[in-house]
Amino acid sequence: MKIIKNLSPSVISQIITHLQTIPMKEDKSNYARNRKIQWIGVEPQLFATQDTLKTAKKAYQDARITKFCELIMPFKVDFILVTYSGEQASGINWHRDASYAKALAGTINLGKCSFGMRERSGTYSPDSEEKEQWITLTGGEVVTFDCKHPHCAIPDPNRRAIHCWSSSGK
Ligand SMILES: [Fe+2]
Repeated sequence: MKIIKNLSPSVISQIITHLQTIPMKEDKSNYARNRKIQWIGVEPQLFATQDTLKTAKKAYQDARITKFCELIMPFKVDFILVTYSGEQASGINWHRDASYAKALAGTINLGKCSFGMRERSGTYSPDSEEKEQWITLTGGEVVTFDCKHPHCAIPDPNRRAIHCWSSSGK
């Protein structure tokens, strides 16, 4: 996990003001009870066996968010998910991202959040040591990480974030 940029307070508040206009839905994932989400542009089918870009469904259209993500992320942005922890401070439990996504993923963090990551060092084997790493994000960080390693987020109430992925082609 790497912090690649820190946004200024004025940019953070402009994005939050804009995100407040986006209609949010209940997250259906068992890993993220009560979290609110919205896919921007298209929504990938999480367990698609065919090209996830071709089989993606049309989602909420937002040219400003899309442009901003494309400018800020160091990879081709195919999928964008906006999340909101709400008053119940709902985050996401330990998980790996589904096969629609390439390993390099990015998050624009717009509030307070503890982000956990587990990585195995060296060559993968069932008994190789798994290192758990926690980072405390305070707002405005743009992070990249390997989304195929287990990760989780424990946000404060009312924390918003924008998550970006490249399509794996599957
Ligand atoms: Fe994830």
